Amino acid sequence: MVDGQEKLFHLRTFGCQMNEYDSDLLTDLLVSKGWKKTGEPSRSNLIIYNTCSVREKAEQRALAHIRNSAAIKQQKPDIKLIVIGCMAQRVGEYLVESCPEIDFVLGPDYLYMLPDLVYNGFSSEKVYTSLAESSKELRELFNPSIISGAKDISAFVAISRGCENFCSYCIVPHVRGPVGNRKSKDIMGEVKALVSHGVMEITFLGQNVNAYREGDTDFADLLRMAGEIEGLKRIRFTTSHPKDVSEKLFAVMAEIPAVCEHLHLPLQSGSDRILSLMNRGYSLRQYKDSIDIARDLMPDLCLTTDLIAGFPTETEEEFEMTLRAVEEIGFDAAFMFRYSNRPGTAAAKIEDYLTDEVRIKRLNKLIRLQQNCARQSNQRLLGNLSEVLIDGKSKKDSSELKGKDRGGRTVVVKNSRNLKVGDIINVKINQADSWTLTAEQL
Ligand code: SAH
Ligand code: SF4
Ligand code: F3S
Repeated sequence: MVDGQEKLFHLRTFGCQMNEYDSDLLTDLLVSKGWKKTGEPSRSNLIIYNTCSVREKAEQRALAHIRNSAAIKQQKPDIKLIVIGCMAQRVGEYLVESCPEIDFVLGPDYLYMLPDLVYNGFSSEKVYTSLAESSKELRELFNPSIISGAKDISAFVAISRGCENFCSYCIVPHVRGPVGNRKSKDIMGEVKALVSHGVMEITFLGQNVNAYREGDTDFADLLRMAGEIEGLKRIRFTTSHPKDVSEKLFAVMAEIPAVCEHLHLPLQSGSDRILSLMNRGYSLRQYKDSIDIARDLMPDLCLTTDLIAGFPTETEEEFEMTLRAVEEIGFDAAFMFRYSNRPGTAAAKIEDYLTDEVRIKRLNKLIRLQQNCARQSNQRLLGNLSEVLIDGKSKKDSSELKGKDRGGRTVVVKNSRNLKVGDIINVKINQADSWTLTAEQL
């Protein structure tokens, strides 16, 4: 459609790392067909929004951007406006009806169709979102090795897609469909390709990586395989689910040098009644027992989590249980959210008498407590030695470099002029606040 002129696309991504990864895949696909990326929607021929539905706010943010681009398109009707991702999947029909400037919407499994539709499409069909079993086959067809991720020293690699856990508050299973595991051969092939392009650190992605299966191969086996890839310095993974972690996983994390001692294990709530209403499949006791095993095997484990404040019917006492759990467990960092009602989920059907005001109050209390805990756990690192992979300039002071320690914490390295991105160095931590560590090179 735009042969003979410069083909510019603008791609804006909302949501989780899986969406970031999908956007990288799409970027590769478009670049391989002669497109160039631009940061400015008004200069582009193609504007794409990769959207998230996990909370209402995420949808509202994406909608505001889509509407802005619709206004640009009214001035420049040749621009193609496309919405992809989880929100396209959830409310695609509504989007194309309420915003006629949108040329088409694609659910996450239909991403690979985008370039073809841009060239040949724009027929009557505007919504590509059916979530049939066939979507698993679609995913298998679309199995490229991602190279644009290799622009960095770190890259994501999806090992599975979709989720079947149906935590009662969560929209993800409704928009991402059932689990499809990628073949270990394809995963390792992608990791090797990335490493040959200079990637030093990969993060395995899945909604629940611990549920990975290929015959007898489980997730711990997959980590072991990746640990043998020459040149791969660090391996991370997210997200883990407390009901599926095992001693075998922790033992492999402790044993394989490249696997970092970082576990992101969402607790969500400290109340067993709420956990059961959330359909999480574990109790607080079971969660703590897993952490005890993990910390026994990895004394330096960096533990991070997700927490939700104000799940429907959560009492003040139950919320206090979450606060107590946060203090007792001692998370190094946490993503904290106030409950957001997602239409179509099981939790949306629970009679909900909590007000936004209560939820915000609880969330703020939780954030304050966790910030203190994070500061304390970071301050315990003062004087410690640590290994840092340098990944860029410090935001605060651009004359200094920063990187990540094995736990995934950001470390600003003082007097780092002799260093460059990709260096792995040993440092001594000499300053610590809730978010950042500062260190001297040894
Ligand atoms: N698969 C991952 C990520 C899910 S979304 C996992 O299982 O952890 C990331 C986080 O968003 C969740 O862990 C949860 O804490 C939060 N979240 C999901 N749905 C939510 C909702 N409806 N309201 C508030 N927070 C939500
Ligand atoms: Fe959502 Fe639960 Fe699946 Fe995570 S495990 S994506 S919270 S349903
Ligand atoms: Fe959002 Fe979809 Fe990820 S709903 S959190 S972008 S899987």
